[in-house]
Amino acid sequence: MKLFIDSANIEEIKKANTLGVLDGVTTNPSLLSKEKQEPVAQLKKICKEVDGPVSAEVIALGSDEIVGEAKKLSKLSSNIVIKIPSTVEGLKATKKLSSLNIKTNLTLCFSASQALLVAKVGATYVSPFVGRLDDISFEGMDLIRDIKLIYERYEIKTQIIVASIRHPLHFLDAARIGADVATVPFAVIEKLMQHPLTDIGIKRFLEDWNNLKGK
Ligand code: G3P
Repeated sequence: MKLFIDSANIEEIKKANTLGVLDGVTTNPSLLSKEKQEPVAQLKKICKEVDGPVSAEVIALGSDEIVGEAKKLSKLSSNIVIKIPSTVEGLKATKKLSSLNIKTNLTLCFSASQALLVAKVGATYVSPFVGRLDDISFEGMDLIRDIKLIYERYEIKTQIIVASIRHPLHFLDAARIGADVATVPFAVIEKLMQHPLTDIGIKRFLEDWNNLKGK
């Protein structure tokens, strides 16, 4: 499973990149607005930092406007992927962008029907939001299972990005189900390699080693 960082913060992206396991970045308008930087300049910085795909979201809602904005954003860097809301207008725009070979990530996906339709118009990625479904007492991971089943049944190439990940168990479940990508906030990435028994084990090994040296 590929690991993307869900962040627009350059320091977080740099730190995650040093781990050697980072495959890409997803941003959204909320994440970019937290940075208090000019968004286009910030996206360019992110694209320079990471070789893999970097999702940049359109603000436009109408299909023609989405296509116009997508064309501009795609010129920023060869690794830009255009993030588009999973709406009727988003579908129409994605169909057009697929024909232009512009990569897309259909975001704010909350149903398997949405995931099937965006795949039919050639979406490169679909981003179902598990955390926000959990927030309203729906099992977010059930949606990932459904999409995976449908995509396998029809041999669909669209890649599933598990988004709105809030904790390490979301990451683990995404891998168990066989999602293509998990996009993970930095605070959760940091937790993925942590285990108290590893820390206790190191402490004990070092104490024993120092005892030996003291003899
Ligand atoms: O990738 C989408 C993600 O940023 C949404 O996460 O935590 O705002 O639901 P959250």
